[in-house]
Amino acid sequence: MTNQKQGSLVCVGTGMRMAGQITPIAQSYIESFDVVVAAIPNIFTRKWIMDVSKEYICLNSYYEDMKIDGKDRRDTYRRMADTILMEMRSGKRVCAAFYGHPGIFACISHMAIADAVAEGYSAHMEPGISALDCLVADLGIDPGSRGMQSMEATQFLIYHRLIDPTALLILWQPGIAGELALKKLETNEEYLQVLVNKLARTYTLEHEVILYEAATDPLEKTRIDKIRLGDLPHMQLKQITTLVIPPAKALERDQSIIDQLNAIAAQRGQVQQAA
Ligand SMILES: C[S@@+](CC[C@H](N)C(=O)[O-])C[C@H]1O[C@@H](n2cnc3c(N)ncnc32)[C@H](O)[C@@H]1O
Repeated sequence: MTNQKQGSLVCVGTGMRMAGQITPIAQSYIESFDVVVAAIPNIFTRKWIMDVSKEYICLNSYYEDMKIDGKDRRDTYRRMADTILMEMRSGKRVCAAFYGHPGIFACISHMAIADAVAEGYSAHMEPGISALDCLVADLGIDPGSRGMQSMEATQFLIYHRLIDPTALLILWQPGIAGELALKKLETNEEYLQVLVNKLARTYTLEHEVILYEAATDPLEKTRIDKIRLGDLPHMQLKQITTLVIPPAKALERDQSIIDQLNAIAAQRGQVQQAA
């Protein structure tokens, strides 16, 4: 006999672009589960979910919370997770849908799944196509060729982080960089100047960086603006902008490690060359 409770949760992603980027398994959960709870910004995707799901609960209006004094983004995300959990606790099979990948910069899904599992419910996540996946395809960048660092822009600002200038750096949410109160979904020129000043510890102001915004429907154009790092504070950034910083330095060989590996290979009677 199992202890599994009635009610279950799956978190799915809808991809970035309407039509074509949702996986067949995510689509099947959206169509077959008792209720879909979703915070989807794209109106066409929202409408499609509304049409194909059995019941649809839209979480978009929860963002109004941020206008209430004393509430920050974390309160809003907690409330969204609680709504998902409430439906599940009532015995329903709940599909929580998020744009992109449901687990990348998406704390609501992680909170809801952790709580559901702790309470003895069945809960899991299905991967989706994220902004990073689109970025790799649209910019023709292979994160494997030079390695990649990826972090949230404000986190980069307010913590000591070690940046590797030989690797690709992806900064998420530059459009809300420096907004420490977590109450507004915007940044300003002064905050962006602080971001540039901190990046200038590693990169020159001439270094070319890319403002990337994947098109989310067929009527939009993907934004790929290549600019000088020093010009960033004067650019228009949106909530969906991702800042891409290509490597600034060549890789340096670690000769002592290469020597160690070659010595091991020689002991084994093998001949090896450094890549
Ligand atoms: C809360 S995160 C959501 C990420 C999403 N779960 C995913 O899988 O890509 C929001 C950030 O993702 C990135 N992002 C979202 N939409 C984007 C788009 N259309 N193009 C480029 N980056 C995007 C931006 O860095 C934005 O600030």
